Amino acid sequence: MNAVISMTNLRKSYGDLEVLSGIDLTVSPGEVVCLIGPSGSGKSTLLRCVNQLEQATSGTVTVLGQTIASDDHEPDIDIDDVRARVGMVFQQFNLFSHMTVLENCTIAQRKVLGRSKPDAERIAQENLERVGLGDRGDANPRQLSGGQQQRVAIARALSMDPQLMLFDEPTSALDPELVGDVLSVMRELAEQGMTMLVVTHEMAFARDVADRVLFMDGGVIVEEGPASQVISNPQEERTRQFLQRVLDPTHTPVAGKEHKDS
Ligand SMILES: Nc1ncnc2c1ncn2[C@@H]1O[C@H](COP(=O)(O)OP(=O)(O)OP(=O)(O)O)[C@@H](O)[C@H]1O
Ligand SMILES: [Mg+2]
Repeated sequence: MNAVISMTNLRKSYGDLEVLSGIDLTVSPGEVVCLIGPSGSGKSTLLRCVNQLEQATSGTVTVLGQTIASDDHEPDIDIDDVRARVGMVFQQFNLFSHMTVLENCTIAQRKVLGRSKPDAERIAQENLERVGLGDRGDANPRQLSGGQQQRVAIARALSMDPQLMLFDEPTSALDPELVGDVLSVMRELAEQGMTMLVVTHEMAFARDVADRVLFMDGGVIVEEGPASQVISNPQEERTRQFLQRVLDPTHTPVAGKEHKDS
C-alpha cells in the first residue's frame, strides 16, 4: 500500500539556522508514529511541513499521494485539497469563542467541503459523541475545561473525515488530571485504524499506542524503532539522556519545557 507520508532528505532552514537537517520518514496507512525529543529539536517544524504550514527548504515531501515539496520541479498540487484531508490538533485548541461547540465543528465542513447544514451538524454530533461530548454541542467553548476543549478540537478535525491526523503536544497545555481523557480519545482513534503522527511528551502513551517511536535531536532523527525498543531499551546515548530527563524530572531540570510559552 502507498505511504501516507513520505519524506526524503527533508531540510528546513530559517535564515542561517537549519532546524531540519535531512529527515527521511515514511508513515504507512493505519500506522501510529510518535515523535519525541527535546525542545527545539524540530518536532513541530517537521509536523508543519506535512501540511505545508511550513515550506521545506529542500527534499521531497509526499502526503496522501500528492508531492507537496520536491527538488526537481515546482509541485503542481492543490494544497487546500491536501489540507482538507489532514486533521491537525495543536497544543492550543484555537476554538472560536463566539460560536457554540457544534458550530465550531460544522464551519469548516460547510466552507471547505460544501456540506449542507443538516449533514454537517449530524456529522459533528457523531464526532462529539465519539469524544464523549455529545451533550455539549450548545455550550460555548469557554464553558468547557481545557481537556473538553481539546476533545472538541479533535471532534472538529474528525468531522472533516481526515485520512491522516497530526497532533502537536495535544495534552501539554492541560492540567494533569485532564490529560487522561484526551489520551483515551487518541488511543481509541488509533485502535480504529487512524493514521497518526503525534508529537508528545507522554511516554506511557507512546510506549502503549505507537507502532513506532522516533527520537529527534538537533534536526535529525537520532533513533527510531518499535516503541518498546526506543523507550524501554534505547540504543543511543542521546536518547537515553532525554528519556532519563523526561521520565525522572528530578534528575536534572528539563530545559524550559514547563515554562515555555512559545
Ligand atoms: N518561524 C520560525 N522562525 C525562526 N526560527 C524558528 C521558527 N520556528 C521555529 N524556529 C526554530 O526552529 C527550531 C525548532 O523549532 P520547533 O518548534 O520545530 O521545535 P520543537 O521540537 O517543536 O520544540 P518544542 O518541544 O519546544 O515545541 C527552534 O530552534 C526554533 O527556535
Ligand atoms: Mg513543538
